[in-house]
Amino acid sequence: MTLAGSALGLPGVRAALAQHEHHGHGANANPKLQKLAKFVDALPRPRRLSGPSIELSATEFSAKLHRDLPPTLLWGYAGAVPGPTIEAVRGTPTRVRWINDLKNPRLLAALPVDETLHWANPLGAAHGGGHAGHGTPQPYAGPVPLVTHLHGAEVASASDGHPDAWHTPGFAQKGPAWAGEWCEYPNAQPANTLWYHDHALGITRLTVYAGLAGMYLLRDPAIEKAFQLPEGDYEREIVIQDRNLDDEGQLAYPREGVEPGEHPFWTPEFFGEAILANGKLWPYLEVEPRRYRLRLVNGSNARFFRLRISDGRPFTQIGADGGYLPAPIKTGSVLLAPGERADLIVDFSGLKPGRSLVLTNNAPAPFPEGVAADPRTTGTVLQFRVVPLNGRDLSTVPSTLVARPDLGASKVTRVLTLGEDAGKNGPLTALLDGKRWSAPVSETPRLGDTEVWEIVNLTGDTHPIHLHLVSFALLNRQRFAVERYKRAMTAAEHRAGARPPLAPYFTSRARPPEANERGLKDTVRANPNEVTRLTVRFAPTGGGAFPFDVAAGPGYVWHCHILEHEDNEMMRPLRIVT
Ligand code: C2O
Ligand code: CU
Ligand code: CU
Repeated sequence: MTLAGSALGLPGVRAALAQHEHHGHGANANPKLQKLAKFVDALPRPRRLSGPSIELSATEFSAKLHRDLPPTLLWGYAGAVPGPTIEAVRGTPTRVRWINDLKNPRLLAALPVDETLHWANPLGAAHGGGHAGHGTPQPYAGPVPLVTHLHGAEVASASDGHPDAWHTPGFAQKGPAWAGEWCEYPNAQPANTLWYHDHALGITRLTVYAGLAGMYLLRDPAIEKAFQLPEGDYEREIVIQDRNLDDEGQLAYPREGVEPGEHPFWTPEFFGEAILANGKLWPYLEVEPRRYRLRLVNGSNARFFRLRISDGRPFTQIGADGGYLPAPIKTGSVLLAPGERADLIVDFSGLKPGRSLVLTNNAPAPFPEGVAADPRTTGTVLQFRVVPLNGRDLSTVPSTLVARPDLGASKVTRVLTLGEDAGKNGPLTALLDGKRWSAPVSETPRLGDTEVWEIVNLTGDTHPIHLHLVSFALLNRQRFAVERYKRAMTAAEHRAGARPPLAPYFTSRARPPEANERGLKDTVRANPNEVTRLTVRFAPTGGGAFPFDVAAGPGYVWHCHILEHEDNEMMRPLRIVT
């Protein structure tokens, strides 16, 4: 990482320095990015795919991210970034064969795979033990392991994209959790905005960064018919991601670890200066003066987005990452952590053709105490450009949507901490409940049980916590005295290893979820200085029984969705017992 201060304006220097102070993330701001013309490319529409049986290959290719840039080397599904949008219908299963066709990819040279992390290591070299051998460590250059996870899906663990279920091109090498070439998605759960992305152990930050992500819309025809939401041309899915590009317009990812003696290449959080929407930098979307349905996913590694429309017009949010909300809510801004989704209705009616509005972002990075977004780069996402109305808007937004299922009374409360192992210059690793990925499974809920998970954040950042298999309800959040609690934890360790009770450390009452967090969720923001409580029922969201054996296969995981964190231990196994 170079701070390259002289080449940058003052805010850039401050941004770089502040990032350096915070964690030392690689902030290789490219001043050229600020000068790129905005809103010159149309927002692409991902190709839509449906049907009972789909084969999708991950390949390397080049694509133009911007009119004025040369093609950028990428990895994507079916030759596109984002990959095609899979459309599925509730009750009709979809099977997907995810094929790894990354044969000798050139882009690997720009993606510093850190062999000192616990990772999907196809050649089986030693890992996890600090220094990577003699001389100057080199990033891994062998076959690339991949495994695709459908985020938000209720599936058998053999089809869940377990981080160790990877394979290399030609299915030559397979990870220890490998369970077959086809993934079966029952689509038995209620309608939802899902997305798929690579999930290979310890390298997801790099494979997703390279482009391996796409959306999956699970529809319920009965509901869609009843709701009459905007559809067809008026329903657009948008994957929002940040990237850094070098002078040649190629993807750049920091190559210098914050603690190079321990992890030569791992950086604790990646933040890019260039904002991609459906694979274009700061594109525009032509909109008629009418309602649109926008289905957003934050597919970034670590950047949060707090989105607004420049004239202050509200979003009507109808869904989050667990499907429809109980009722639409009007909100001036939508906050999305990595992995979170928002299903939004935006009403452009009344706007004159020729008007334009901007979708802006003002979330600091890291969230919530980091560097402010720069309107010239990270503060801008895309432009809405009003064109003449083409036929009447017959869409509606019903006043009630889908009631949240009753998750029942909790039988078990788990207290789970979020922590970091501090090195001299930054974190060495990020941990869930103080444990590493390889520690024996400790979250073993019983099928059908309801549990409360109390997520105790001991760090300074918000972590988006994601559970596979189930959606959950956010119960509340409560502030606590984190430093005092940490001291008590240290003291308790010295005594018996028991975790001190939280009760004496609360400094506020429990605060209910935000209005747009009152449906089901599968990814939730756990803020610093707070305990975040979830009610989780280990049962199908739609009621009844899972159409597969939850106890079979390699099992599930729960993790932080900051990809640099999940790649460096902030992921734990989750096993449902029957
Ligand atoms: Cu979107 Cu386990 O991840
Ligand atoms: Cu997931
Ligand atoms: Cu995290």
